Parts: sequence; structure tokens; C-alpha cells
Amino acid sequence: MGRESTNKAGGAGLPPMQGLPGARYTDPQIYLLERDQVLMSSWQLVCHISDLPGPGTAMRFDLMGRSAFVLRGSDGGIRAFLNVCRHRGSRLIDGDANTQLAYCVNGKIRCPYHAWVYDESGALVHLPREVNYPGVQRDALGLHALPLEVWLGFVFIAFRQPGVPVAELMGGCTAELEPYRLAEMRRISEPRLRPRRANWKVICENYLDSYHLAVAHPTLQQAVGSRYCFEDRGGVMHISGEIDSDNSRSWSARAYARWLPEMGELPPRRRRLWSYYFVWPNLALDVYPDQVDFMQMLPISSGETVIREVAYALPDPRREMRLARYLNWRINRQVNREDQQLVERMQLGLAGGDYDRGPIAVDETGLRWFTARVLETQAQAGGGKALASRRRKAGMASENRRGRVSK
Ligand code: FES
Ligand SMILES: [Fe+2]
Repeated sequence: MGRESTNKAGGAGLPPMQGLPGARYTDPQIYLLERDQVLMSSWQLVCHISDLPGPGTAMRFDLMGRSAFVLRGSDGGIRAFLNVCRHRGSRLIDGDANTQLAYCVNGKIRCPYHAWVYDESGALVHLPREVNYPGVQRDALGLHALPLEVWLGFVFIAFRQPGVPVAELMGGCTAELEPYRLAEMRRISEPRLRPRRANWKVICENYLDSYHLAVAHPTLQQAVGSRYCFEDRGGVMHISGEIDSDNSRSWSARAYARWLPEMGELPPRRRRLWSYYFVWPNLALDVYPDQVDFMQMLPISSGETVIREVAYALPDPRREMRLARYLNWRINRQVNREDQQLVERMQLGLAGGDYDRGPIAVDETGLRWFTARVLETQAQAGGGKALASRRRKAGMASENRRGRVSK
């Protein structure tokens, strides 16, 4: 996704900034460091509360080789656990390949290997032939619980306790999103998993990059006008643009603007606003007047990522709303295709190891924000030393290569 920044100061007065070094996007060891320093201690959106409609419904969530699940209990509460049996380490819950939705019988999780059984609180409640385990303490063998928070109907978990609660991370966004009634929404499409041959940060940065909009996304630019507004909200980068399609050459953009019903429940300035919330480190919440979707960049390796995307909306049978939702999807499907080529092309350019680093424009508010946060997290985690030495080596290698070329 691309946006043109309307940074009020036009970036004037900001210091020059360099992007991350090329090795940061390709080195498998840096990938593992980021797994530990960034992703594992971040809030990850698993699903919406409506995706767990009744007691015993569960959703699996995998991140960089680790697996967890959330489970709705008979008391209506939702809990999160590691998806690993305490006996011999077997995975417990599979879930449908696409939705990863699973069901537990009577709220019990039964391991497929030797049939240990856990209840909805994670307690080990049945251990077949227990007599053969003298001295076993069932109390000490319950499932490992994980931090879980529900924010405006969305269920977040973390593999390690993050520094701030979800609500604090979202900061001032919560109040302005309340009119959308996100908690009452329902999924309107099957989850989409889009594999990309690119590092997760390449995809996040592309989402926040405003420079390529006019070059790569003429339809999007025509749909929402030529100017976007960027606002740094701490843990969230808020990006927004008004639908402005009167003169658009794009049929989809014109039709969307024409058919989008008047959304009287929203404040006037939001009735025709496309509003994006990029949540550190790998989540984007796209808030449209007609629907909401999230895009989650799930790293698979240093050069591969899966974008997981799910759309939600309030039930609305109006024909014009159905049309508007279809057209929205059509516009953004096109943007997605365009971005796939860009991010994979960038990864190809980085993969050869010939790129060191390049400048970021002063008006690239989103890109600067993301880069600063990557560096800040690295410094906080004390990983600066390891990465600096790695960067030095990468820099030296790059110098050597340049030397060879110039000879
Ligand atoms: S590994 Fe789960 S019961 Fe043995
Ligand atoms: Fe883009």
C-alpha cells in the first residue's frame, strides 16, 4: 500500500535518516534475533471474538515456528495457551488449514498421541494409566498460559509479556474507532493467506512507504486522492485519506464513490475516509466506512512472509453496501498484486548482498517511524552489539565488493 505524506512541515528541519542495512532483510541469524527481540514479545492479533462463537471453539495461531491457541470456555471467557502437550511435546490442536478454527469436545483438549486431557483452564485432568507415573504431579503439568487481551472485539496474544497493554499501544485510536462498533462485526470473507518472497520488514515498510504511490498504484491514488495524512501515535502510525473519485479514470474507484452508502453512524469527517492503522511491529488495521480488515505480516524465513488478511463488517443487507464492499475489495486486490511485485523485486535486489543502505526522505513519516522503532527495539534488547558487528561485516563485504567492481 502506498501513501503520499502530508507531513505539515514537509519534513523540513528533520535530520537526514538512513534506512536499515541490506543484511537486516536477508541474514537468517538477524531473522532469529528479531524473532526473539521483536516478534515474540509483541501483541499478535489472532481473531475476532465472533470467530469463537461458543464454548469449546478454538483458533490456532502460529508465529515463526511457535504455536498457540485461544479457546472460549463455558464461562464465555477466552484463554490462550501454548499448543504443546506437557507429556512429550506433541502439538495439540490443528484447526482448519485456512481458518485454523478448531473445536474441542466438551471444552476438553485431548492430545492425539497418548490421550492426556486438559480442561478449558489448561489443567491436566486425565492421564491414562496414571498408576505408571508414581509421584506425578498433575497440578504442575497444566498447559502453559499466554498473555491475552481483547481490544474492541479483537483477540490479541503474545508469546512473551509485552511491555505495554494493547489499549496503551493503541493509544488515542480507541476513542475514534468506537463509532465503527468493531466488537459487533462479523467476518465477511474467508481468511486470505498471501505468501510473499520477501522479508517481513520489506512488506511492512512498503505499507508505510508513500513515495511509490503515484508510480505503482494509480488506481488507489485515484480512489483516495493524491494526498495522505500521516500521524505518529507512538505504537501506531495512522494514515488516512478522503475518498475523492469524481475525476478518477478508474471504473472501480468511481463506482465505489458512487455506491458507498451514507454512513450516518460515523462522524461526518469519517464517512468517506479510508483510515489505516499500522500497529507495531507487523499488523495493519484498514478501517473503511464499509468494512474493516487486518493484514498481518507473518515471517516464515528471512526471505519469506505470509500476509494473513481477514475482513469484518456489520451485518448490512443493502444492495449498495454489498456493491461498495465488492468494489473496495476489487480496488485493494489490485493494490495487493502491484505490491507483491514491488516487495519481491526489492527482496531480489537485496538478496545478492550488494546493497548497503540508502537515504529515507524527510517527508517519509511512516518509513522513518518504522526504521526508528526497529533500531530502538534492538537497542533496548541489547542486541545492538551483535547486529553492529554483523553490520560491520556486511559493510566490509559490501566495501570489498565495491572495490572489486571499481578495479
Ligand atoms: S505427547 Fe501428548 S499425551 Fe503424550
Ligand atoms: Fe504499495
